Amino acid sequence: MTQPIPGNRKAKWPVAVLGATGAVGQMFVRLLSDHPWFEITELAASERSAGKKYGEVTRWLDGPPPPASIQSRRVIACDPGVVTAPIVFSALDAVVAGEVEQAFAGAGKFVLSNAKNFRMEPDVPLVIPEVNGDHLALIECQRKRRGWDGAIVTNANCSATVAAVALAPLHQKFGIRQLFLSTMQAVSGAGYPGVPSLDIIGNVIPYISDEEPKLEREMLKLLGKFEDGEILSAAFKVSAHTNRVPVENGHTICMTIGFEETPTPEAAIETMRTWEGLASTKGLPTRPQHPLVVTDAVDRPQPKRDVNAGNGMTVTVGRVRRDAVLDLRMVALGHNTVRGAAGGSVLNAELLASTGGLDST
Ligand SMILES: NC(=O)c1ccc[n+]([C@@H]2O[C@H](COP(=O)([O-])OP(=O)(O)OC[C@H]3O[C@@H](n4cnc5c(N)ncnc54)[C@H](OP(=O)(O)O)[C@@H]3O)[C@@H](O)[C@H]2O)c1
Repeated sequence: MTQPIPGNRKAKWPVAVLGATGAVGQMFVRLLSDHPWFEITELAASERSAGKKYGEVTRWLDGPPPPASIQSRRVIACDPGVVTAPIVFSALDAVVAGEVEQAFAGAGKFVLSNAKNFRMEPDVPLVIPEVNGDHLALIECQRKRRGWDGAIVTNANCSATVAAVALAPLHQKFGIRQLFLSTMQAVSGAGYPGVPSLDIIGNVIPYISDEEPKLEREMLKLLGKFEDGEILSAAFKVSAHTNRVPVENGHTICMTIGFEETPTPEAAIETMRTWEGLASTKGLPTRPQHPLVVTDAVDRPQPKRDVNAGNGMTVTVGRVRRDAVLDLRMVALGHNTVRGAAGGSVLNAELLASTGGLDST
């Protein structure tokens, strides 16, 4: 990746990763280790890990391990008085994320969060850059309302992200009226060590704590509109079933959709294939050339074959067909720790950087 740093900046932005030892934190480390605009200067986690070398306390889950310079770094505490970087990527467990992220934003840091805690706050942007990057304008309202120089920007629940990328072009053109979703979610979505192996091998668990309400409410905010300093949520009805399945990475989502103006399957496919996402995201280092791909194969998408499309940032849709109850049915798949978590956060930061949003940091 060689894109010049925006705004004629000479040095990369120093960034910290909070929760760097977990499943999403590791993905941050992987995506940021060779980033053209950001440089990891600090790795933070719980008191259990603080003071120890990153390589010693991190059980590396996927892909080549990080460079020696990262592995030998001492993990520090998630304390804004200790972390010096002005930009922090948060992969913290939701149990602690609320208090910690608020403390960082209050101390003037720019927080890019993966946790659920602030996603539905009316003054906090919940963003997928290609879908609703314009919602970042909420930051100004947030700063005024909360009286801080920092900011909190969130990315959505991993399944909501995958579904929203697939549905955004259809909602923009045909207007969604009703949406029914059923997910098959990978075990990496539960973090590490996550679901016990004896519970998930050869099994399906038809319950993921708090996942259905998250998916239902976040979908409407993501596909809502920014107007006069607030987000007007989309108004369609959503019903979600969420299931944990024995897949390592990649959430697969079966969707049945009713529209205001019913498209043929061919028109829906054409709409998704020609969708390019928000123009200002084009060319950003982590944005894939095609955020959304529609496959013609009758038996795809499949996590094993499609999860790494676009370096994990592309959502793959297939099996677009008519439905006898609503209007259309289709299947979407995306990488939960890349597009649905760390990659989404990094792309949020890139959009902010390219539009001057990080200039004050
Ligand atoms: N996994 C996914 O696909 C996914 C997708 C979207 C969003 N998310 C969200 O991203 C966040 C991280 O998820 P994950 O799957 O990476 O979880 P995880 O593997 O369990 O990692 C949790 C991280 O939080 C740290 N932590 C725990 N308690 C802490 C404390 N008291 N103080 C400071 N740090 C603490 C842990 O550090 P130690 O190692 O030191 O304990 C670890 O680095 C969660 O909010 C999750 O909901 C996850």
